[in-house]
Amino acid sequence: MSDRPRLLPLLTGNRHGTRDAMTCLYRCGNACDHPVPNTSDNAYFGDVVNAEVSRRGVVRAGAVGALVLGFGGAAAGALAGAAPAAAAPTTPDVPEGFGFGRPGTGVGSGALTFKPIPPNKLDTLVVPNGYDHAVVIKWGDPVLPGAPEFNLHHQTAAAQSKQFGYNNDFVGVLPLDKQGRRALLVVNHEYTNEDLMFPAFPGLDALSAEQLRTAMAAHGMSVVELERVAGTGQWKPVDNGRRPYNRRVTALSTKFDLTGPAAGSAWLKTAADPKGRTVVGTLNNCSGGVTPWGTVLSGEENFNQYFVGADAAPADLKPKLDRYGITTASRYPSGSRKWERADERFDLAKHPNEAHRFGWIVEIDPFDPESRPRKHTAMGRLKHEGANVIVARDGHVVAYMGDDERFDYLYKFVSDKKFLKGNSWAARKHNLTLLESGTLYVAQLDQTSAAEIDGTGKLPADGAFNGRGRWIKLVSGNRSFVDGMTAADVLTFTRLAGDKVGATKMDRPEDVEPSHLTGKVYVALTNNTDRGKAGKAAADEANPRNANKHGQILELVEDRNDNTAETFAWSLPIVCGDPTDPSTFFAGYDKATVSPISCPDNVAFDATGNLWISTDGNALGSNDGLFATAVEGPERGHLKQFLTVPIGAETCGPFITGDNRSVFVAVQHPGEITGASVENPASNWPDGDYAKPGVVVTWRLDGGPVGS
Ligand code: FEO
Ligand code: CA
Ligand code: CA
Repeated sequence: MSDRPRLLPLLTGNRHGTRDAMTCLYRCGNACDHPVPNTSDNAYFGDVVNAEVSRRGVVRAGAVGALVLGFGGAAAGALAGAAPAAAAPTTPDVPEGFGFGRPGTGVGSGALTFKPIPPNKLDTLVVPNGYDHAVVIKWGDPVLPGAPEFNLHHQTAAAQSKQFGYNNDFVGVLPLDKQGRRALLVVNHEYTNEDLMFPAFPGLDALSAEQLRTAMAAHGMSVVELERVAGTGQWKPVDNGRRPYNRRVTALSTKFDLTGPAAGSAWLKTAADPKGRTVVGTLNNCSGGVTPWGTVLSGEENFNQYFVGADAAPADLKPKLDRYGITTASRYPSGSRKWERADERFDLAKHPNEAHRFGWIVEIDPFDPESRPRKHTAMGRLKHEGANVIVARDGHVVAYMGDDERFDYLYKFVSDKKFLKGNSWAARKHNLTLLESGTLYVAQLDQTSAAEIDGTGKLPADGAFNGRGRWIKLVSGNRSFVDGMTAADVLTFTRLAGDKVGATKMDRPEDVEPSHLTGKVYVALTNNTDRGKAGKAAADEANPRNANKHGQILELVEDRNDNTAETFAWSLPIVCGDPTDPSTFFAGYDKATVSPISCPDNVAFDATGNLWISTDGNALGSNDGLFATAVEGPERGHLKQFLTVPIGAETCGPFITGDNRSVFVAVQHPGEITGASVENPASNWPDGDYAKPGVVVTWRLDGGPVGS
């Protein structure tokens, strides 16, 4: 098919906003076709703004602890000395406080020296002058030793279960040695696009059961051992030897243990799992995070689209299903993937509790390939974008999380137990239990300039979109703080608990990540074109634009710089869009020198604390990309574009290694443009024929640190 390099026109501005309709179908099950699931009337801001909203006739909807810097912020630490699993050959030899090269220094005020690239629609990966890039691994490449060579025309679930999955999203890179030569790549595979996977695509309804099972096997996660190309920032998969860490986790067959207070509750029991403690598979794994104890967290996001038959679910369950976007009005809502044809557990008419077994934060230990991954109920059930952990000053660990849906909420989890430093087997065993018990909070934000917020994005007279806020306690261990809901209720139907306590309705909270250098927390709020629509929440100071197409970044500073605090200050350092648009804001930096940005999605930090932001659904006409800015000092707000991904793709999983020499991104859904197919691709990336999702690494040609 390499003789067919033609491109389809970019589509913009359909009813789904700027995302292509094909992405809407496969990625989020046509979420925009469904009503906004949050129909709560919770008061979500202070009295002043609520009075304002009512008057307008709108429906009143209502110091950082324990720095264990490794090869990814806090990740690499406590691994040396971990007891080897049965199949693991050696223990990772990464001493505490050591990553690849130097540990992180600075506080996010370093100048970024790369020359920004311009917005573009090129069907390639574009990086700044002086940088190079390469595909590390792509869909269908072998992961497990003995994996069959990818055969486009004879795809099977068995083969795919040994090969790199589809639509890579989160990327984590964890060191395997102290010389910076070997590492583990851990990747999410969020969803599949059968139109672009199967030649002569027959339509979703005509896919064979084997094709559906192949799609299930293409979901999940991959763990892949990498080796550095000596003397460079480039990395390649190890392609010989035993590769004992290499692993596939799938929606098809991987077993997960449920942990925490809701495990074993009535909500989680099914015919196949009468104890409610073991789930087969993980779904729609979007973003995630690397923990300070060397595991990876992964968010189960738009799990709703995999289920049918909610119209025949028990009546008392229907409001709970609706709140999670599982439409109960018909057997096959718009965007259904109809997997029940291959596995009846996806039919809620028969197995109504099966849906409750997804929507969790998953934890996987990539250093123990025999370990069973876990779903942590103590962290709540939402459409989890991901979770990122920081060790608070007193040793408790704090996970920050976003619920990616229009008008949904921002959460944090504080562990009961404290992080144990060190690389001992005992410390590692202890740290693996940290996310099994704790306190779950939801955010409520106040504002300082409520009367001035008119939905245009005009900056208030005090010069900032800002305010204070509080973390409202929902549940702590087995004790619920929400009237009429048990702890298991709160954890399983966390959105409903947030509604009851008056959480603040946000513009699609995606990645939420604390800086390990400052303890400040950054939230990507992607967009919300429903903001301000009749019957929907109007703009407020944290979500200051109605019909918000471009999104914003929120910075949250916990009181006393204590990540366990229950109160905080917040502001918007960046309000995205074309800098010539008066509704944009770049922390007061000269707008003439910043790059246009739209739809921030995932965030990451480099070793000097600069904030990197990837985008999903650029509404300015360019391909999606990766951007970076200092967050402290005079360069704060000087946003520069570092790369763009090919046509139709989204930039996911940015990960900057602890030595600042390698930037990884996931190129997700290249060529996902309505009308495209294997035979008629909208993108030819990366091989010149049909489009394939893949992970890319970028490095500086002179071997220097990336970006600064
Ligand atoms: Fe999977 Fe919220 O993006
Ligand atoms: Ca203000
Ligand atoms: Ca995302």
